[in-house]
Amino acid sequence: MDKMHSLLRRQLKRYVDDGRVIPDRWHGFIGAVNDAYRQMDRDREMLERSLELSSQELLQANAEMRAVFHAFPDLLFQTDLTGRILDYQAAGSADFRFDKEKAIGRQICEIFPAGIGKTFGEAIAQIRKTGTMASLEYDLPGPDGGKACEARLLLMREGKIIIIVRDITERKRAVELYKTLADSSQAGVFIVQDGRFIFANPHIMKYSGHSERELLGNYSLAIVHPEDRALLRESAIDMLKGRRTNPYEYRIIDRTRQTRRLIETVRSITYGGRRAILGNTMDITQRYEMERVIRQAQKMDSIGTLAGGIAHDFNNILHAVMGYTDMALAVPHLDDRLRSYLGHINKAGERARDLVKQILTFSRQKEQERRPILIAPIVKEGVKLLKSSLPATIRINLSIGDGSTMVLADPTQIHQVVVNLCTNAAHAMREKGGVLDIRLDDESVSASEAQHPLDLAEGDYVKLTVRDTGTGIDPAIIDRIFDPFFTTKGPDGGTGLGLSIVYGIVRDYGGGVDVASEPGRGTTVTAYIPLIENGELPAALKSDPIPGGKERILFVDDEAELVELGSVMLDSLGYQTAVRTSSIEALEAFMAGPYRYDLVITDMTMPNMRGDQLAAEILKVRPDMPIILCTGFSEMISEAKARNIGLRRLIMKPLGKRDLARAVRDVLDEPSRMDCTPKKQGMPPPDMLRS
Ligand SMILES: Nc1ncnc2c1ncn2[C@@H]1O[C@H](COP(=O)(O)OP(=O)(O)OP(=O)(O)O)[C@@H](O)[C@H]1O
Ligand SMILES: [Mg+2]
Repeated sequence: MDKMHSLLRRQLKRYVDDGRVIPDRWHGFIGAVNDAYRQMDRDREMLERSLELSSQELLQANAEMRAVFHAFPDLLFQTDLTGRILDYQAAGSADFRFDKEKAIGRQICEIFPAGIGKTFGEAIAQIRKTGTMASLEYDLPGPDGGKACEARLLLMREGKIIIIVRDITERKRAVELYKTLADSSQAGVFIVQDGRFIFANPHIMKYSGHSERELLGNYSLAIVHPEDRALLRESAIDMLKGRRTNPYEYRIIDRTRQTRRLIETVRSITYGGRRAILGNTMDITQRYEMERVIRQAQKMDSIGTLAGGIAHDFNNILHAVMGYTDMALAVPHLDDRLRSYLGHINKAGERARDLVKQILTFSRQKEQERRPILIAPIVKEGVKLLKSSLPATIRINLSIGDGSTMVLADPTQIHQVVVNLCTNAAHAMREKGGVLDIRLDDESVSASEAQHPLDLAEGDYVKLTVRDTGTGIDPAIIDRIFDPFFTTKGPDGGTGLGLSIVYGIVRDYGGGVDVASEPGRGTTVTAYIPLIENGELPAALKSDPIPGGKERILFVDDEAELVELGSVMLDSLGYQTAVRTSSIEALEAFMAGPYRYDLVITDMTMPNMRGDQLAAEILKVRPDMPIILCTGFSEMISEAKARNIGLRRLIMKPLGKRDLARAVRDVLDEPSRMDCTPKKQGMPPPDMLRS
């Protein structure tokens, strides 16, 4: 046995008188107890050593902690659970503006300005309740723009609270500055990493129409026009590698599916520790559009002058050709074959004359008669004319608002605009059919907005929109469609003058034409024409008063809206107006009392019975009945022919109030009428009474 453990020896002494005389049979047991005592000693020694070590480490750690605390540019408080300050530590240089005088022992709410103290109080109450952490921010006013602070409150064991206050003025200013720059920038600023947007400033949302959520995290190429993606990638790589310095141009598709044009520069940056691309963009859509408009205007002006000159000379030559042909045709005993040849020359000459007329309109060398006119009836008239020639597969939608919009224009020209645009639209739908939408809307262009893409001046415009669902226009030719003689319709199809004439006319009125098209889906052409208010009529037109009267008038037109317009105009002039939208009904109304009316005004083109036929029926009953026939552009009836069948007057649609009023008064006052009207209005002369 090892040397006996002192404790064991002492106990053995107590129980066995002489420790040295131990019975043999106890030896094994005592050896085991002795070993256990020794093991216990070793364990205790180890424990003591480790305790000593850890308390040394603790002291060391504490000292380090203190050093770190001292090095913090922060303000630290230790409070109890009520917010009473137990200790504090303020970094040397920073000024947190609190009352250092007797800070220890006071409530933290008391040493800060009132408002701030209160937020501290609330935060302490909160962490007491939740047992977690709280943070708050506050501003300290001051002459240098003040200071921003952030405080964090931590609940420690033993019912203590640690409060760390940090000066975040610099950080906040930097964030603010960055935000102001990014938000107010009139250029797009973005960061792309791994091909996806990770930042985009508000300007990008503005021109793309996409929200931040739709952009961030998504591929930046997704909004780029598919045709421009490869080019954009190539240009960007060139710039990132320093092979190019000039901004490059590309197109995007915005949220409304419109194409917008951008210029861009990019450079390589590190963001979040990884490579990224910082880009700057500028939306140049408007500038590009305006340049296009100006280029077009210049091109049109020079071509117009040239074409006008040629057409003028050509007209003189044509005059001679047709004049001599007429003379040749008048030669007696003309050979039949010769007569037929001359007839052909004449026909071709007429076609040439029409063409020259078109060219002259386009080059604006024809006399125009501009006057204030209601535009809606002309549009209706143009559409009506077209309707009959369109296949049933084309549906027409016409929306002309309240129809009161006036423009200062030549009605023939407005008619030309409508017919040309609608003919193009119909042609684009001739194979598959579709919908032809024609609209008139008022639109204001205000000075405060950025310059109008069509270079329109400030003011009110009437917007004529002609939209089709036809073939659309190939983007490759869209820049050329306004060019004179540009056509895709082949030699027998079109002259290619339609759109250039539309352009010339509208531009002349101080308006503009826009076209948007998607191949396979359709085309929208929009013409803006400055509108005039009634008060704006030229002085010459305002000076003499519009003549009125009290006579009874029967007004006939198959278009309900035109009837409405006519009766409103006549009523306002003092007349008593009865209206009919069918010529048959009109005739019945007349027959029911031939002397009930002093005047009949009728449209020419109507189903069942034309206007001239209605007039003939009326005149059979009352040969003296004054009748005015209204004709559109399409209905060729001469003044002479009209008088021949007994009509008093022909007036051209659309009906302007002034023209209508004058025609009505003239006809009613014509002496021929006085001769054969009964003395008393409404009473037939005895010999006229039948049935
Ligand atoms: N609504 C449209 N849809 C599709 N293409 C159109 C449309 N409008 C015009 N275009 C295209 O523009 C070209 C020029 O039109 P423009 O009206 O000037 O001449 P045109 O129609 O060819 O000839 P014209 O008007 O003398 O009959 C057309 O040939 C056609 O290719
Ligand atoms: Mg055309």
